[in-house]
Amino acid sequence: MPSHLLSVDSLSRDAVDHLIRIAERMEPIAQRRKVTRVLEGAVLGNLFFEASTRTRISFNAAFCRLGGSVCDTTGFTFSSMAKGESLYDTSRVMGGYVDAIVMRHPEQGSVAEFAEATQVPVINGGDGPGEHPSQALLDVYTITKEFARLGKPLAGAHLLLTGDLKYGRTVHSLVKLLSLYEPLRITLVSPPGLEMPQHLIDLVASRGHRIETRLNLAESFDDVDVIYATRIQRERFTAEMTESFTELTADFVVDRGFLDRRCSPTTIVMHPLPRDSRPGANDLSTDLNGDPRLAIFRQTDNGIPMRMAIFAHLLQVEGLIEKDLRDVGWFVPPSFGVDDATFQGSGSA
Ligand code: NCD
Repeated sequence: MPSHLLSVDSLSRDAVDHLIRIAERMEPIAQRRKVTRVLEGAVLGNLFFEASTRTRISFNAAFCRLGGSVCDTTGFTFSSMAKGESLYDTSRVMGGYVDAIVMRHPEQGSVAEFAEATQVPVINGGDGPGEHPSQALLDVYTITKEFARLGKPLAGAHLLLTGDLKYGRTVHSLVKLLSLYEPLRITLVSPPGLEMPQHLIDLVASRGHRIETRLNLAESFDDVDVIYATRIQRERFTAEMTESFTELTADFVVDRGFLDRRCSPTTIVMHPLPRDSRPGANDLSTDLNGDPRLAIFRQTDNGIPMRMAIFAHLLQVEGLIEKDLRDVGWFVPPSFGVDDATFQGSGSA
């Protein structure tokens, strides 16, 4: 893996497997049974120029759990970019201050441009509708863990990706990463105008996968192993799209009824979150809360070990992790959510 993580294009299947193995070793720390200090003294610069809750906090928490500390800035208003500073200058300056940088920016390609001015590892935390490589890594980690828990092989699995497949950067990175795996069946379900870019469909097909598009969930298939729902990225719409697209219709809703009618007890439901819970949004339904098939919070939990793995690998401390472990000294609840006790700590893949 090169010194930055800007796109999943830089990852081979071996590199993904390697990161998954490091993430597994991070589990005792992520689950707050052990403490490590391998990044003691290191500083992370978290630069977020777009809204974020989980990506920003989980990168932050992952770095802290490795013993490092974090400096961050959010939004353009409070950064010198509001004074006209270029990405190049900001990048060079930050390189002199911190040991790793995570950046989220509304423009596609901007994080790669930023990375050109520094030797300090830069991680793309989302560049507009471009990519979100760490999310795709934690998604693949989640899928491999869930399949191991369910005793199912990943080869030949059927994944259904739905919602905004045009502007959703998480699904762009995810399909590219999935294309490195044994032949899969991928069904893409999105409303007109929000289809997955054709070059990504072609790439996946060229690597031997069966990839098909459907116009709504009613037309999709029943034997689905993974449903990956996404939010409509209204903030990225062109003026024309804003005019023509009113709302996601009810035939896109993944809810308990859909799962009970069309899926199996071992189907897992994922979403990068946030899910839009406003009335009429028709995003992934909250009526699935408490249903064991809903993997979204196991998925967010997996963001910590995977992001720790990314840092450990980029900063080359992965060989030191076990040498430095101590027991946690504070109170840790037996499970993090109110209804996930059966899954806590269940199975590294
Ligand atoms: C996503 C993002 O920002 O791309 N969220 C995330 O990072 N988990 C998805 C979204 O905003 O809909």
